[in-house]
Amino acid sequence: MKTMIQEKFKTLFGEEGMLYASAGRINLIGEHTDYNGGYVFPGAIDCGIIAAIKPNGEQKVKVFSLDYDEYVEFGLNEEDKPEQQWARYIFGVCRETAKRGGKVEGFNAVFAGDVPLGAGLSSSAALESCFAFALNDIFQNGIDKFELAKIGQSTEHNYTGVMCGIMDQFASVFGKKGALIRLNCKTLEYKYFPFDPKGYKLVLIDSCVKHELASSAYNKRRASCEKAAAEIKKNHPEVDFLSDAKRVWLDEVRDKISEEDFLRAEYVIGEVQRVLDVCDALERGDYETVGEMMYQTHFGLSRLYEVSCEELDFLNKLARKHDVTGSRVMGGGFGGCTINLVKDELCEAFIKDATEQFTARFGHAPKVYNVVISDGARRL
Ligand code: GLA
Repeated sequence: MKTMIQEKFKTLFGEEGMLYASAGRINLIGEHTDYNGGYVFPGAIDCGIIAAIKPNGEQKVKVFSLDYDEYVEFGLNEEDKPEQQWARYIFGVCRETAKRGGKVEGFNAVFAGDVPLGAGLSSSAALESCFAFALNDIFQNGIDKFELAKIGQSTEHNYTGVMCGIMDQFASVFGKKGALIRLNCKTLEYKYFPFDPKGYKLVLIDSCVKHELASSAYNKRRASCEKAAAEIKKNHPEVDFLSDAKRVWLDEVRDKISEEDFLRAEYVIGEVQRVLDVCDALERGDYETVGEMMYQTHFGLSRLYEVSCEELDFLNKLARKHDVTGSRVMGGGFGGCTINLVKDELCEAFIKDATEQFTARFGHAPKVYNVVISDGARRL
């Protein structure tokens, strides 16, 4: 990939650029907890974005996407927002860097990626983090790593309309080979946990389904949680986020909020605790508990939070049938993939059967990814 990128850069701009990379992510557990001030437990993976970049001395960004085979130019002011979605991410990163007082001038860039799109592996966070990191390095802005992650998050908020939490961009910037990172999204304290489950594999099965309106449904979930938290706060002023609430406090407001908001909140409060339980279990090497929590998360995401879909529920059930240790829908939901913790000896049969049964049932094959926990944003 690097060679292809540099070659294209040379063809377009007559020289070589500096190379930067960033990664997609998985999340072992802690879904839809980030914007609720709870815990998440992600790690960066060995697929990501690589970009060659060099300042061009103009006030213009000239960028080529190898994957879309498309060249776009845009200026650096708010009104220069490009049409193409992929270019908007880069534009957003430039704008958000500038809003934080960072210097951003024109540059040339060529980039490519191997994060499957729409699979829930955060290809957009990888793109944002790669450029946020690169611009910070090239223009020597000295912006710290958390702020780089927030540049990506604000890009989503202000330039794509998804009111996401910090998890994806955090994982993409802070990712470290062989480690998952538990982040407290309220205090931003984080801890690396070595993750090398001997005798198990992490298998992702991509339903290749992407539901329309996923981003508006996502924003709606977030609004439900905020409504529930605001109601609880009336009784318990210390509650700033839903993750601050005890389960019994939610029961107190049951007749003050809609049934839907209640179920969403019930899921989140349970999920925050599950992340802590999984971290404890990991330290004991107790993968059975880790896996059981993953199944509980799937149940919650499917029945209470309602971000699963038929295809993902099907894959989850199949995992149970094959004695897969843990399985659940991963990421924002509404399509994408399941993450499965599978004993080595069961892997082959599970993948074969899942592929066959899924294809027979839905008329298209799922994709299977074996991921390795890897480094996040960096200069190559
Ligand atoms: C998406 C968002 C994240 C997070 C997850 C769900 O990936 O970008 O901030 O909310 O969904 O856990």
